[in-house]
Amino acid sequence: MDGADSTRKEVFIFLGPPGVGKGTQAFRFAKALEIPHIATGDMLRDAAARKTPLGLEAKSKYMDQGKLVPDEVVQGIVQDRLGQDDCQGGCVLDGFPRTGAQAEYLEQATSRLGLPVGKAFYLDAPEEVVVERTSGRRACPSCGSNYHVKHLPPKKEGICDECGTELIWRPDDRPETVLERQRVYRAQTAELIDYYEGRSVLTRIDASGDVETIQKAILEARSG
Ligand code: AP5
Repeated sequence: MDGADSTRKEVFIFLGPPGVGKGTQAFRFAKALEIPHIATGDMLRDAAARKTPLGLEAKSKYMDQGKLVPDEVVQGIVQDRLGQDDCQGGCVLDGFPRTGAQAEYLEQATSRLGLPVGKAFYLDAPEEVVVERTSGRRACPSCGSNYHVKHLPPKKEGICDECGTELIWRPDDRPETVLERQRVYRAQTAELIDYYEGRSVLTRIDASGDVETIQKAILEARSG
């Protein structure tokens, strides 16, 4: 546990363009605070891997094309997860909210649960950095671990360090889909920066450096 007030029960949000490093940082932040890391992209990919009707439809109709999954579907998933016992002490949301409607929904849900949004970390980096991170990513389809061919290679090329499964190139990390995801982000998600700034919970983080430097900046911003 870090040195911050561990009695505060809050929801933390990670905002930023696809590939900026939200998952990497949200995972580490949740671990440091010993609270759940809730990543809607991971939950949707898991549903698709388990071949549930919802997961298969989300993957084929939206995710593989770089589009957002409809609000009601994602809100339903988040509602179920936030209602679980381990979220009562707070949690980290990674990839949610992503539209104005999702942000409004979250405001109502967190107020019902008595878990205010403590901070929204907005991870910002130049587009060329973000595109390079996304195109070099390799993912484990089994345990969800993420690697990067240059910045975070696995010990054995193409194989997950954690579980030994062969790594894949996420279908939505292919160049044309990466560009579409960036477009969708600018059109539908970037407005949330102003939304959380207006609620005085936004903290901008320079996410162009290395993983440890960014992690330190986030933990300092949380305590400050
Ligand atoms: P999701 O999985 O959330 O994808 P995303 O937002 O596009 O984010 P990414 O996972 O691509 O990137 P990231 O910012 O987490 O970066 P990462 O840490 O992995 O969503 C996928 C899809 O699901 C969406 O397109 C949509 O269809 C659907 N979806 C999900 N949530 C939804 C919602 N709320 N509403 C509607 N639809 C939704 O890092 C990227 C790479 O860079 C990795 O290889 C990593 O190792 C490397 N890296 C990270 N940090 C650094 C660093 N500092 N230096 C060098 N390399 C780094």
